[in-house]
Amino acid sequence: MGSCLPCAATSLLLLQLAVLASLSAAGHRRYHSIFNFGDSFADTGNKPVAYAWYSLPSNVMRPPYGETFFGHPTGRSSDGRLILDLIAAGLGLPFVPPYLAHGGSFGGGANFAVAGATALDAGFFHDRDIPGAGSKFPLNTSLDVQLAWFKSLTPSLCGTAQECEEFFGGSLFFVGEFGVNDYFLFLKKRSVRQTRSLVPLVVKTISMAIERLMKHGAKSIVIPEMIPSGCSPPAVTSFYGRAGPADYDARTGCLRERSTS
Ligand SMILES: *[C@@H]1O[C@H](CO)[C@@H](O)[C@H](O)[C@H]1NC(C)=O
Repeated sequence: MGSCLPCAATSLLLLQLAVLASLSAAGHRRYHSIFNFGDSFADTGNKPVAYAWYSLPSNVMRPPYGETFFGHPTGRSSDGRLILDLIAAGLGLPFVPPYLAHGGSFGGGANFAVAGATALDAGFFHDRDIPGAGSKFPLNTSLDVQLAWFKSLTPSLCGTAQECEEFFGGSLFFVGEFGVNDYFLFLKKRSVRQTRSLVPLVVKTISMAIERLMKHGAKSIVIPEMIPSGCSPPAVTSFYGRAGPADYDARTGCLRERSTS
């Protein structure tokens, strides 16, 4: 897991956020809705519903989740707001309602992100017995499944192709972050080198999603990139004991690339 690609990606995301911030600061109501695809970084409440389909308990429905902002658990994997919530607020839009858990209209946008979601379809992992031991993960909430939900919602938002182009042309789309869950699931059973071989498949899946959204009329699409995965607690924990002191960056405590190749 290299550190340079995520660094560049993070700067790109920050740049995009700066652009968004300047749009809203100028007082332009640039977008009337947000449509989001992703995993726990952006799930505003779908997780408990998806987990219930599989009779899985959802830890996010008890404290400390929601404690510092909403005052109660909301299904977010956070004690407060997510970046997506802050962007929505910054653009003068409501928090993006979770598609699986919201009873009202989605005219102001919809969030299809589900915690734990993969870019690649669940079958890809189950066919390879990953993560194994009869695990229900990953659940059937991949990017393609989220796109199918989006497609089934579309008729309630716009009728003709032209109407849809106009509607989605005024929406802001987010596709991602995707990839973290694919790679971490693979790492449970495969080497880093084998896990790296997933990268082109993940990238292709995300690219195809973007193309499909553009066909629906999407014009503004943000692609949040991977986190610096060598810094994430699951990665640091799973290599603990296998990696020596030299494998960690002295300043950040993150895993360096060579310990994981
Ligand atoms: C996964 O979800 C999609 C969309 O809801 C559905 O069409 C498909 O049948 C599901 N697949 C499985 C294996 O449950």
